Amino acid sequence: MDLATVDHLLTTTRVVRRRLDLSRPVEPEVLERCIEIALQAPTGSNAQGWHFVVVTDADKRAALADLYRRGFDLLADTYASGLPYPEGDLRARQFPRMYESAAHLRDHLQQVPVLIVPCIEGRFETAGVAIQASLYGSILPAVWSLMLALRARGIGSAWTTDHLFFESEAANILGIPESVTQVALLAVAYFTGQDFKPAQRLPARERTHWNGWGVHR
Ligand SMILES: Cc1cc2nc3c(=O)[nH]c(=O)nc-3n(C[C@H](O)[C@H](O)[C@H](O)COP(=O)(O)O)c2cc1C
Repeated sequence: MDLATVDHLLTTTRVVRRRLDLSRPVEPEVLERCIEIALQAPTGSNAQGWHFVVVTDADKRAALADLYRRGFDLLADTYASGLPYPEGDLRARQFPRMYESAAHLRDHLQQVPVLIVPCIEGRFETAGVAIQASLYGSILPAVWSLMLALRARGIGSAWTTDHLFFESEAANILGIPESVTQVALLAVAYFTGQDFKPAQRLPARERTHWNGWGVHR
């Protein structure tokens, strides 16, 4: 395996918002191939309850973008009362740039040529932690694989969740059954420019615990 390429893909697949090419359609065959690849992800009990609703219809994209904006603005109100990170923290420093980028996507989401809503069969509202973990764990790895497969083909995507404040309204727009849970909304388009860089993250060492919580090497 060519580790340099694999590591580059894994470390530079960013959430793309400003660099989505809004003028270029994405071929359905490419999307189908990427979803096929994504379905190689693990799936609890081999249930394979995953679904991807691919939205290219302009009216439906606009309706979903409206829901997204409403959700985004709800969260923006909570951010206005302060960030959940300590002062000087890397994440606090990164926040303004991230927020500006997110606000850009908020304003342009309806223009993104493809929106994909990944879903999983089942509802989690009354489920315990084990069932929740099993259901989310049976769709989110596939979502990330989809982003990787897209990125390898020059297509960027932005993982979002803010429309889920109005999940049932989105279900009505897309005809998603009540027994199915939406887990995200990916904004998908060819990206402009050549490449992406690894992000600065909290050190892996601090986040790795050996044989018990708080024990670092
Ligand atoms: C579960 C989840 C929910 C997210 N929701 C949103 C969202 O609603 N809107 C948005 O613009 N970005 C959203 N993001 C993207 C994050 O803001 C992004 O991953 C983070 O800022 C780090 O950027 P990077 O992935 O490009 O390194 C979400 C990411 C995850 C994993």
